Amino acid sequence: MDWSVNLSSVLPNDFIVAYASFSMGIDMLWHGQTLFKQPEVFDYAYLPESFEYRSGQLQALADCIKPCFQSLKPLNCKIIGETATGKTTSLKLVFHEAEQESKHLMLVHINGGIFSNVFAVFSRIHKEVLGYEPPSAGISVKDIYEKIFSSLEKKKQTLLVALDDAAYIQDLNKVVYDLLRAYELFHVKTGVWLVGTPKDKFALDDKSASVFSGQAVIFPCYTVEELFTILKKRADYGVHRGVVSDDVLKKIAGITFQRDLRFGIELLKMIVLEAENKSKKKVEVEDVERVLSRFSFSEKGENFLEQEILALLREQNFTSGELHAALSKKRKIPYSSFYRLIEELRKKRMIEVEEKRGDEGGRTREIRLK
Ligand SMILES: Nc1ncnc2c1ncn2[C@@H]1O[C@H](COP(=O)(O)OP(=O)(O)O)[C@@H](O)[C@H]1O
Ligand SMILES: [Mg+2]
Repeated sequence: MDWSVNLSSVLPNDFIVAYASFSMGIDMLWHGQTLFKQPEVFDYAYLPESFEYRSGQLQALADCIKPCFQSLKPLNCKIIGETATGKTTSLKLVFHEAEQESKHLMLVHINGGIFSNVFAVFSRIHKEVLGYEPPSAGISVKDIYEKIFSSLEKKKQTLLVALDDAAYIQDLNKVVYDLLRAYELFHVKTGVWLVGTPKDKFALDDKSASVFSGQAVIFPCYTVEELFTILKKRADYGVHRGVVSDDVLKKIAGITFQRDLRFGIELLKMIVLEAENKSKKKVEVEDVERVLSRFSFSEKGENFLEQEILALLREQNFTSGELHAALSKKRKIPYSSFYRLIEELRKKRMIEVEEKRGDEGGRTREIRLK
């Protein structure tokens, strides 16, 4: 498989809509005109057409799947990197490509921030394998498990589960162990990928560690030059030519380097949106700082939540589940957003997050002020 060719297909030039037709010597946008060529390029779940600097990681992940094509088990691995270093995108791209190769592969991507306990994880796998969700009550994990593996056995499928943001899964040990020991009860081969940041130790207990034993695939942080190139490509695909100059992109890349690429892409979108709202045809370097300050202001809702989290932690330490529950009494917030806020606060070094063993043997995270 030549990933580099498959993954970096470039759009033909004539794809670029005739932006020049705007040009009438007046530096204003007319009603109904837009600076965006393909707005979806800025969507959260967008898979980039051009995905540079990650060919080694893509190859390493593909190598973990390759044994399946020789009727062997997939290799387990840990996918490690800071936020927005391309971990989720890489695994989605590799899964997407591998799925085309064989119908005997069942590849399941699970977001641990959303599916954060054993029942939720296996329900999600059930949905992928059988095509529908199990009932949310009146059925045990054991029943769901049996349904999943009987179906895989019947269809002669190998199961590979990527547990993304795995540190947020309570009782990760049980999930890993149950997945990897399935071959004892069923004729099904399985593999597990764990995705997380360098500080997630994935401290599997001895029992789970002995069945896991995976290699690590490391996603280093991007340099400022790499961020510039990635943002430039995103701008090339997403907005019309001439709207965002290299100087503007350099400025955004510098800010992105301080935060992360996800933030940088969002900032780029906001800057272009603002220009569009003001009927301007292009962005100026000065616009960047102004939008950045407004951007932080528009995150006021999140700042409010951050303040609430800090206020709660001033009273006492919490486990992540307790803190989410306490915060939800003041403002309903999905677990995935809560998870992102906690990560932000941790990165700003305002809080500490420590892995702990819970009362029932599962893992929890204790959160306290730094
Ligand atoms: N090498 C890259 N080229 C283009 N876009 C990238 C690259 N790496 C990350 N991105 C973009 O950055 C954002 C975050 O990437 P993601 O894969 O979700 O990171 P992670 O899972 O490590 O937090 C996504 O919008 C993704 O498209
Ligand atoms: Mg991710």
